[in-house]
Amino acid sequence: MSAIAQRYQRFAHAEAAGRSALYETLALHVAQSPDALAFLERLPPSRQQPNLLFAALRLVAGTPASTADFDHAIDQHASAIAEVMLTRTTQTNEPGRCAVLLPSLARIEGPIALIEVGASAGLCLLPDFYGYDWGRHTLMPPAQFFTNAPVFACKASDNTPLLARHPEIVWRAGLDLSPLDLSNAGDLAWLETLVWPEHQDRLARLRKANQIAQIERPRVEAGDLRQDLPTLIAQAPKEATIVVIHTAVLSYVAEQSDRDAFAASMIANTRVIWLSNEGLRTFPQFAAAAGPLYQDMFLLVVDGHPTAWTGPHGQEIRWI
Ligand SMILES: C[S@@+](CC[C@H](N)C(=O)[O-])C[C@H]1O[C@@H](n2cnc3c(N)ncnc32)[C@H](O)[C@@H]1O
Repeated sequence: MSAIAQRYQRFAHAEAAGRSALYETLALHVAQSPDALAFLERLPPSRQQPNLLFAALRLVAGTPASTADFDHAIDQHASAIAEVMLTRTTQTNEPGRCAVLLPSLARIEGPIALIEVGASAGLCLLPDFYGYDWGRHTLMPPAQFFTNAPVFACKASDNTPLLARHPEIVWRAGLDLSPLDLSNAGDLAWLETLVWPEHQDRLARLRKANQIAQIERPRVEAGDLRQDLPTLIAQAPKEATIVVIHTAVLSYVAEQSDRDAFAASMIANTRVIWLSNEGLRTFPQFAAAAGPLYQDMFLLVVDGHPTAWTGPHGQEIRWI
């Protein structure tokens, strides 16, 4: 079996199973389809990911109802799908992740200058405008967005400290290699297509968060977190506490030495409070200090201290 076929088989079993029946079926189909594998082999290895293929195909040809539909789309629209795969990257922006950041953000005395690296379209830069339902405690959206803001459901462990307030954010900015512009119809369509097909609840709340972003317009600058963060930090108001956050980003930085250098720079910077919410393999040094591991969860680390296990889409938080 080729490396690409193995990758799709692994994706089907480890990532799609239990989360998307369609992507599981399609990935298993690709793994044994000579035509689909030949299509992927014509792309650079960095552009062969299952998520990228399935989103590009859905963007161009709609969501396939069957493997026959999928084959038909590849056959009829190969060059258009390849074009999307060569020009777009997987930049899923999941505002629900704010639910696992909020308990830590709310404990920080304001005013806060919030900086997000790997911000995509910037929807996680607006945690103070959303509502949250942690099961035993609810924080409703602020008055101006009371009726139309998303309220993110997040199962919180009994020991999770939940404050009855939003953080006081007075300044915010994001950084991304390739920011998505929510006022651009093509970028918005791509963002929506990145949500897996069965996850209609996530799509609905993405659309609600987008409505708020259309009003608040979070600024996301183009740049690389490895070089360009100091410039953004220098722009933050002097009287504010600077908080740097990232979720599902550092795993895209290929070299562990670059991730570790970034972590070291954050810990050394006494002006900054640093919240890292990443898969547990991203920073093995923090995972090793976190006690029993939860393989399918992210690890929230605050200033280098393992703080909580979190659901990858913000659906759960287990305080350590
Ligand atoms: C999976 S998305 C997550 C977006 C957002 N943090 C969220 O949780 O919804 C990862 C984002 O990180 C960005 N990214 C990856 N490497 C980066 C780097 N070296 N510097 C800045 N942004 C980066 C990508 O462009 C992408 O938009």
